[in-house]
Amino acid sequence: MAPVLFRALKSAVNVPLASMGMRIERIDDHDWSDVANYIPFERTLEAATALGLSIGDYVDTVMNGVPGSSRQTIEKMAACGVFDAQVKTIVEVGPGTGRYLEKTVEIARPQLYEIYETAGAWSNYLTEKYAVVHQPTDGYSMGATADRSVDLAHAHKVFSTVPFLVTCSYFREFARVVRGGGWVVFDIVTERCLDAEVMETWATAPGIRNGSYPSVFPRDVAISFFQSSGFELIDSFILPMPPGTTELLAFKRSA
Ligand SMILES: C[S@@+](CC[C@H](N)C(=O)[O-])C[C@H]1O[C@@H](n2cnc3c(N)ncnc32)[C@H](O)[C@@H]1O
Repeated sequence: MAPVLFRALKSAVNVPLASMGMRIERIDDHDWSDVANYIPFERTLEAATALGLSIGDYVDTVMNGVPGSSRQTIEKMAACGVFDAQVKTIVEVGPGTGRYLEKTVEIARPQLYEIYETAGAWSNYLTEKYAVVHQPTDGYSMGATADRSVDLAHAHKVFSTVPFLVTCSYFREFARVVRGGGWVVFDIVTERCLDAEVMETWATAPGIRNGSYPSVFPRDVAISFFQSSGFELIDSFILPMPPGTTELLAFKRSA
């Protein structure tokens, strides 16, 4: 089949197939622009094992070149006060390898941890390894989570990969599911992460050209949206996301 035809067919069918842990791809070919299927499961696990690293450390250190970055993010959340009161119920969108999930569980010890994850191989791995509930994931809604039922809704390095409408839909869902006094934490690539020099760096970096990564989201739009839903921006941090940066925002809903 002609490559152009194969790519068109693949993008049409891979998003719905991803929730079942399936995809079409050429043998020995991983499509890095297919963000709903994330990175190849077996190859990544093998590579981490070969280096004697946990999967989280492998992603932090080898794939992203920022050792300790997922732990530093959780420490920033802690510094904002996210874990000061008991965090009984957590929902995470796009946990991938679980590098933020494992550290969040360690610190919060929640009674319920729900995940919405499109990549079937990774969600199977996470449900086997951790006591988490993989909720049916259509890629934009969180229908299995009740209104105002969770203490923390978070997502890391997800909204820089998906198109604008997916981020809008999940923001709406975060605002729906978080209870009074609860938290919403996520990172987005904002204006603060993008000066002319950084744009040059992104534009000349090797890798995906014709895909949704990196997606950007206007900072003021995100802040006004959550403020209009009764949240206050507690703090924000610029974090490394090579070859650029991303901005972590932590919002708290009034009690
Ligand atoms: C760049 S990875 C980040 C993974 C993890 N949070 C981390 O930082 O290591 C993005 C994650 O979001 C998942 N994902 C992509 N589109 C999604 C969607 N529409 N709904 C839920 N998860 C999605 C991918 O499968 C992947 O696990």
